[in-house]
Amino acid sequence: MSIHHHRKPLSILLEEANAEGSGTLARRLGAGSLVALGIGAIIGAGLFSLTGVVAAEHAGPAVTLSFIISAIGCGLAGLCYAEFASMIPIAGSAYTYSFATMGRLWAWIIGWDLVLEYAVGAAMVSISWSQYLNKLLMMHGMHIPTAFMAGPFEGGVINLPAVFIVAMMSLLLARGTQQSAVVNNLIVILKVAVVLVFIALGWSYINPENLVPYIPENTGKFGHFGWSGVLQGAGIIFFAYIGFDAVSTAAQEAKNPKRNMPIGILGSLAICTVLYVLFGHVMTGLAHYTEFGGAHDKLAPVATAIAHTPYVWLQQAIILAILAGFSSVILVMLLGQSRVFYSMSHDGLLPKVFSDVHPKYRTPFKSNMLFMVFVGLFAAFVPGKVVGEMTSIGTLLAFILVSFGVIIMRRTMPDAPRAFRTPLVPLVPILGIVVCGVMMLALPWDTWLRLIVWLIIGIVVYFRYGVKHSKF
Ligand code: ALA
Repeated sequence: MSIHHHRKPLSILLEEANAEGSGTLARRLGAGSLVALGIGAIIGAGLFSLTGVVAAEHAGPAVTLSFIISAIGCGLAGLCYAEFASMIPIAGSAYTYSFATMGRLWAWIIGWDLVLEYAVGAAMVSISWSQYLNKLLMMHGMHIPTAFMAGPFEGGVINLPAVFIVAMMSLLLARGTQQSAVVNNLIVILKVAVVLVFIALGWSYINPENLVPYIPENTGKFGHFGWSGVLQGAGIIFFAYIGFDAVSTAAQEAKNPKRNMPIGILGSLAICTVLYVLFGHVMTGLAHYTEFGGAHDKLAPVATAIAHTPYVWLQQAIILAILAGFSSVILVMLLGQSRVFYSMSHDGLLPKVFSDVHPKYRTPFKSNMLFMVFVGLFAAFVPGKVVGEMTSIGTLLAFILVSFGVIIMRRTMPDAPRAFRTPLVPLVPILGIVVCGVMMLALPWDTWLRLIVWLIIGIVVYFRYGVKHSKF
């Protein structure tokens, strides 16, 4: 059997892309909204929490270099996503692309894998959200009891704030994509403003002594400073970039997707890379990297850095903006998740409930509600570290498969029109596979085990359900 068995024909995909009317998703997002969608999904827990961890434990001021290396891996994969998104502008992202290129089984695997990126990723950010909320309450002499702040593996009972924010964002999504986009745009403006204010106000208070040596000497252990630290830091900070690909899941709701999808994907990635490097530079310039080490600082490195400026009064406003910022990450992740399952259900690989569209709101509202429960359970009971690493490994696997897909598509369908072409094929996809592969290898073995178990469950579901109900 050839690996191209049961491929979904490009002609049908394009027909679906052009479908209009009730029962389909509405095309309402322009280039600006798509870039905002990307930034909405990108800037979040990675930047506001992990920058401090990487500076304190792996790279020192060279966290900026970690940001750059990680951005290169994402950029290579992003160039591959852009070609596909401009060629097959329908919902479902990497799932849809692999159905056209590598066949049904691979498409299923990648669709199933994307649950780790989007649904589990949303859970991860909701857990960070509850920690920042607690920080804000503490500034007013209140706090949330541990029992209701953490799951049973971390000495609590249930993480209630995390469940709350997941429920809020799910309800907003079910209400309408356009409403969600409006809320997202507002939050993105706020979030980018906070980052810019931090960079602008902090710049003149940078103490040059904090930045020497730029790459602290390796402690003798791999990954603890020196170049190996910079590299491992890149693998961890990768989480901060996850989300630019979520733009591609909304392709079916984009106006003029052939032009706007590449702009949305690559534009949001480029803007965030510049912001991240400047942010990391100012942060490690304000406070010495060792100051980010403590249990408290780790979570809120921004607060630690601001304490070195006369703008301490800004802290609360910034934490509020960060809370809003995390909400939009959760929103876009949940949006991406429901769109991937929408496409899988549309193709018959999943039950119809995932593609039922609300008659008035035109959203897959039942799917939104089911994922509210699934993501809520993760957020309530699973430790943040586990959830975060599962997100990273799932995303890296998706990036690798999409990069493979571009190489295959160029061979099998060389003449199909592509509004955007990945440059230097096969060099760019191969480099993308290598860089993302190295970051995957840097993750701990128990994360690999969870990935494998998740994929095995997926294969069982596929043979029990998908094979029997598939339309292609
Ligand atoms: N990139 C997103 C974040 O940092 C997932 O929260």
